[in-house]
Amino acid sequence: MRSRIVLRSAGVALLLTAGPDGMPEVVHWGGDPGEVSETGFEDLRLGAAWMIPGNSVDLGPRLGIIPEARYGWTGTPGLIGSREGRAWSPGWRVSEVRVDGRPAGGFVSAGPATVDYALEAVSAGLRMQLTVELLPTGLVRSRATLTNAGKDVFELTELTLRMPVPGQARELMDFGGRWAAERMPQRRPFAMGAHRREGRHGRTGADAAFVLSLGEEGFGYQDGEIWACHVAWSGNHVHIAERDFVGTQLIGGGELLLPGEGRLAVGEGYTSPWVYFNHAIGLDAQADRFHRHLRSLPVHPGPERPVSLNVWEAVYFDHDPARLIDLAERAAALGVERYVLDDGWFGARRDDHAGLGDWVVSPEVWPDGLHPLVNRVTELGMQFGLWFEPEMVNPDSDVARAHPEWLMQLDDRLPLEGRFQQVLNLSIPGAYGHVLGQMSAILEEYAISYVKWDHNRDLNDAGTAPDGRPAVAAQTRAFYALLDELRRHFPQVEFESCSSGGSRIDLEVMERAERVWVSDNIDPDDRQRMLWWTSQLLPAELLGSHIASGRSHVTGRWHDLNHRAATAVFGHLGIEWDLARASEEEIAELAWWIAWYKEHRGRLLTGRLVRVAMPDPGVWFKGVVNEFGGIYSLSMLEATPAVNLGVLRFPGLEPGPRYRVRVIERPALAPAHQVPWLNAGHPLELTGAQLMHVGLRAPVLRPATTVLFVVTKV
Ligand code: GLA
Repeated sequence: MRSRIVLRSAGVALLLTAGPDGMPEVVHWGGDPGEVSETGFEDLRLGAAWMIPGNSVDLGPRLGIIPEARYGWTGTPGLIGSREGRAWSPGWRVSEVRVDGRPAGGFVSAGPATVDYALEAVSAGLRMQLTVELLPTGLVRSRATLTNAGKDVFELTELTLRMPVPGQARELMDFGGRWAAERMPQRRPFAMGAHRREGRHGRTGADAAFVLSLGEEGFGYQDGEIWACHVAWSGNHVHIAERDFVGTQLIGGGELLLPGEGRLAVGEGYTSPWVYFNHAIGLDAQADRFHRHLRSLPVHPGPERPVSLNVWEAVYFDHDPARLIDLAERAAALGVERYVLDDGWFGARRDDHAGLGDWVVSPEVWPDGLHPLVNRVTELGMQFGLWFEPEMVNPDSDVARAHPEWLMQLDDRLPLEGRFQQVLNLSIPGAYGHVLGQMSAILEEYAISYVKWDHNRDLNDAGTAPDGRPAVAAQTRAFYALLDELRRHFPQVEFESCSSGGSRIDLEVMERAERVWVSDNIDPDDRQRMLWWTSQLLPAELLGSHIASGRSHVTGRWHDLNHRAATAVFGHLGIEWDLARASEEEIAELAWWIAWYKEHRGRLLTGRLVRVAMPDPGVWFKGVVNEFGGIYSLSMLEATPAVNLGVLRFPGLEPGPRYRVRVIERPALAPAHQVPWLNAGHPLELTGAQLMHVGLRAPVLRPATTVLFVVTKV
């Protein structure tokens, strides 16, 4: 019997069909057509099918979720693998369909639901469990487990999950980036062929495709239909957008397996990452679906994010307990709620050449352990957080000396060093146990409520001793297992995903992390862009966002404190600055901003993101809106050719209610006065429709300044 499934949720519909043979297919993924009856389903299926006379399979090509060459798809097959040349094009049959766990043979119409297909390819000796879910947010996600039910080894090379995208989506957008400049968007016309983005860093990567979108030409923040995918994986992975000679377009991806990583012994299985698919009108609605998904996870922390102080840019490796306690006292006086001790507290780690991997407090620097600091921090009413880099070692460390075989390596050589370090192979039980044991001992001894989990090098030449087989796939799974195990043992601890800044940000790590470090670059000009685009996937409350010293340690540029602060408050706020060197005025300003953040974080960190494409590329205008109104930010990062930036129209409000508009201007923003409505002596009160459609004259800004507008329902 043919299975026909209609799932509808949050404006998205997914119509799935599976016949007596072949992979389940997607009849429709996109806008919600309303109720679909069983006969209506068949008509839609017929209406979507095509033939290519004399030039493809006679039945007309069919596209499974794991597309098969067998049915006329001439692009990259979804499953690549063989038994030494046999079983390379399996003949799949669906043996069972379940919807939300219940057998569902015929027609099913439901809201958000999980569909599980059991498939068999008898002559190829393969079985598969394919899961497709429509989540309450309208996101679709899919993954597969392939099992070797044959009599010899099956060598899996690649397993990718794909979804069809209509032909009108001809513009492609994804991301590139590097250390200190993560998540740079790139757009291009989408033409015939494969756009294949491989991530081979052994971590998600600063240059990950991140979110790959195919949309109608010129799609913007609020307009244009977009079909997007995200491979939720923190190891090697691939995103693919492909258009074939028929005009068929597919997007999707999966894990990128190194030679032998997909080797399935008899009875063994391989489970792919989740691949997320996001259909939306405009980039803001796309971001909103991801945000609502993340906000629904059990790990999600909610909006009361404690204002943090991280000591890294204040002291680097120079750990002097008295100075660090003094910094804690200064932080507490400002209203800081969490104090984070970064790299340098353990082993022989007096700089980045030694000690990594020895997670034992250095008696040389901390003769009384971390107790004096932790006690003072807790006495001051702050939480205490600590930095670890669990997957890494310096060759000059006790652990590397004792267990050279735990280091990733090929048969005759170690990988080239990166930041003077090597990778500890967590797929070796001893190495895993070493890290788990040492970290657990620290987390047990001290009142720690936050761990900054770092990962500072790529996994190149990453093999397992003695024969050097690739270890990235196993390492990625061992990383998840270790983090899960620590979370189970220490449920009071929050974890941050950091990786040379923002190189490990994806939906799978976010199942087990309360925040990310967006970038090592805290320069507010760059951070405006990075927060803007990292928000394509993550909501503000998950984005570690700090106010650093006046001169950026990464770019060397100087910035006014208000620009730095007004930029940072659209995230999980922290300070990363040697407060002993800040002037009295700076301290007073900082205290003002921290108090302002605490008052407004409930709004800043729960709302829906709205972004406006301003005509001048150096001007950024965005907001966060919820039932109370919106908090908007206008930044000028470079001088515009014309003084007048035009009129600001405030998107995302409700048309009917009246709103009061206040500008948050601190002294350095005085030029903001240069528009009459800001000098009126009273805040303007306008309806949502007036603010959205007519708007207000933008203040005149100096370059490298930010002004905030608080728009509140009266
Ligand atoms: C990485 C992180 C930084 C800091 C250093 C410490 O670069 O991104 O924030 O923790 O490591 O070595």
